[in-house]
Amino acid sequence: MATLDFKIPDTSALKQAKIPIIWILGGPGSGKGTICDKLVAKYGFTHISSGDLLRADVESGSVRGAALKVIMTKGELVPMEVVLGLIAEKMLSELKTSKGFLIDGYPRQAQQGVEFEKHIKPCDLVIYLDAKDDVMIARLLNRGKTSGRADDNEETIKKRLQTFHDHNDPIVKNYSAKMLTIDAQKTPEQCFNEAAVSIDKLLK
Ligand code: AP5
Repeated sequence: MATLDFKIPDTSALKQAKIPIIWILGGPGSGKGTICDKLVAKYGFTHISSGDLLRADVESGSVRGAALKVIMTKGELVPMEVVLGLIAEKMLSELKTSKGFLIDGYPRQAQQGVEFEKHIKPCDLVIYLDAKDDVMIARLLNRGKTSGRADDNEETIKKRLQTFHDHNDPIVKNYSAKMLTIDAQKTPEQCFNEAAVSIDKLLK
């Protein structure tokens, strides 16, 4: 679809950067945004959420944003070039002052991971928040009472979960060597503490 075309910017500055890149993965409502807030507070990293970037594009009122909204409201994945392009642009704009990047909600398909590592650079650590569907559903329905998000309703939550399960296993397999899996049913504080142990090791 022409309205969804996106050119990935020149990423040579990112390829040379010597700061860590950490992917934060997990199903909808697993706590990706929550743990990122805590990690930003401790480490001063730059938090880049694929969902937030896409929602900002929707809010901009552009033709592309309107097309993205249709896809996101169905709980489906937007085209990889769009989301990778937005992430790369944001990383470039923050690079000068960043201490490291938390990439939240990307990759969501095996090919997204391959393209990120090709166009940007290999990630240093993958944190996977593993939670049961019923826990994630309950959290999102609760958040939906106040979030105002078009996709926090029962029907779209089910579709988001299905989309997640359709793609997640190959990603977990591909990055198992650099992956920390956290039982995301623990408290936010416990999840954060487990992540911090691995990040401290990475930064040594
Ligand atoms: P996105 O915005 O990334 O949504 P999501 O993955 O569905 O995840 P959420 O942001 O809803 O949840 P979260 O895991 O961050 O949990 P949170 O911390 O908020 O993506 C939206 C859409 O954009 C996608 O459906 C897709 O269409 C598109 N998209 C995004 N990335 C894409 C990509 N790479 N490729 C293609 N399309 C893409 O917590 C949720 C709630 O639980 C909160 O109320 C929180 O307080 C609570 N909570 C969190 N942790 C805990 C805990 N440990 N214990 C108890 N409660 C907790």
